[in-house]
Formats: sequence, C-alpha cells, structure tokens
Amino acid sequence: MDWLVDAYKVSENLEPKINQLHKKMDDICLNILDLGCGTSDVASVLLKECKTAVNIHCVDYSEGALQWQKGLLSELNQNHGNLLSNYWLVMADVCHLPFKNKFFHAIIDKGTIDSLLKSRDGQQLAEESMKEIFRVLHPEGNLWQITDEDPDLRLLFLQTVQNNTQKRYTSSFEILLSDSMTDYFLYTVTEDALGKS
Ligand SMILES: C[S@@+](CC[C@H](N)C(=O)[O-])C[C@H]1O[C@@H](n2cnc3c(N)ncnc32)[C@H](O)[C@@H]1O
Repeated sequence: MDWLVDAYKVSENLEPKINQLHKKMDDICLNILDLGCGTSDVASVLLKECKTAVNIHCVDYSEGALQWQKGLLSELNQNHGNLLSNYWLVMADVCHLPFKNKFFHAIIDKGTIDSLLKSRDGQQLAEESMKEIFRVLHPEGNLWQITDEDPDLRLLFLQTVQNNTQKRYTSSFEILLSDSMTDYFLYTVTEDALGKS
C-alpha cells in the first residue's frame, strides 16, 4: 500500500542513516515523523528493522489511514527492533503540525509534499507544510523526501522554501530506485552548520 517506493527499500536505505544520526545525538530515542503516512508500511518496517530506538509519529488527516496504521502497527505485537521503540498515531494537518519546535530528529516525506503540490493551491499548501517541517526539525536533524520529481524542479522548490525561513539548509539527492520509466529520488535536507539557532 506504499506510494512510489516500497517500505523495505526505504528502510534498507534509511536505517544506516538513522543509526548515524543517533550517534551524533544525545537522545536515547530518535523522534521520527512520517509525514502523511497514509497506508504505507514505512513506519511498521522501520519499527521492526531498526536497531536504534525510534519513536515514530505517523501523521495524517485521514482517519481511515490512521485506522489502517493502527492495525498494521499493533500486528507487530511490540516485536520492535529495539525494545524502547514506540509509535504514535496523530490526526493532523501537515500544514499545522501539533509538535513543539525542533522536536523531530528525522522527518520522512514520501509522496506527501508531492500530493500537496498537485492539489488546488498546491504551491501555497506545500510551502506552508515545508515551513512547519523546518519548524519542527531538530537543528542536527534530517528531512528525507522520497519523490519522483526531478532534481531540476525539486532542488529549486527546496531553495525557494528555505528562503522563507531565517535558516539556511543544504539539500542533496541520490537515486533510491530506477525502473524502465522512472527514477525515484531520496532528497536529504539538513540545516547548515553556520548560523544554527
Ligand atoms: C501520496 S499519499 C503518500 C502516503 C504515504 N506517505 C506513502 O508513501 O504511501 C499522501 C498522504 O498524505 C495525506 N495528506 C495529504 N494532505 C494532507 C494534509 N494537508 N494533512 C495531513 N495529511 C495529508 C493523505 O491522506 C495521504 O495519506
């Protein structure tokens, strides 16, 4: 039930990055946001596979999606990769995130900013959501965006949205998966070391 790229492929790529992130943080448990989780398996696969302790917050405005996640995550029966790992289901609008500033060590956006961009008033909604993402992202944290949007467009978008903040970010990308028709990219956005607030 995953958009773009299946959850095991995502987990295979992100798990080493989560471990690395954990090494540079003081916190025992990393707070991770699955932005617009939908019916994706990403949260359940990460909970199962990740040896690092993670608190995964699945956010969506669809009650049906959260009910689905509830079933999926409870099926794990606490069989988490780390005993301290846990999950939270949060019904919220990704343009108004109910979390305090700098709360998340990592934010995963797989297809959600894409879907905002494609909606009516898409650019404005996507910009509002990105503003919230930057607000709740820890200064040492990572935003990971998984999308099929080409770097020409996505890097420009990321540059535009960072211009609306007081902070400066660096964005990089890699190809996560290719098939005969499409490349699927993983964009990593981090706050620049200089001028961190
Ligand atoms: C393209 S789907 C991606 C789902 C999931 N991340 C995946 O990879 O399969 C977009 C998801 O974002 C949710 N969504 C869209 N706009 C939203 C908003 N403004 N606030 C909260 N969730 C939203 C939708 O309900 C949907 O579950």
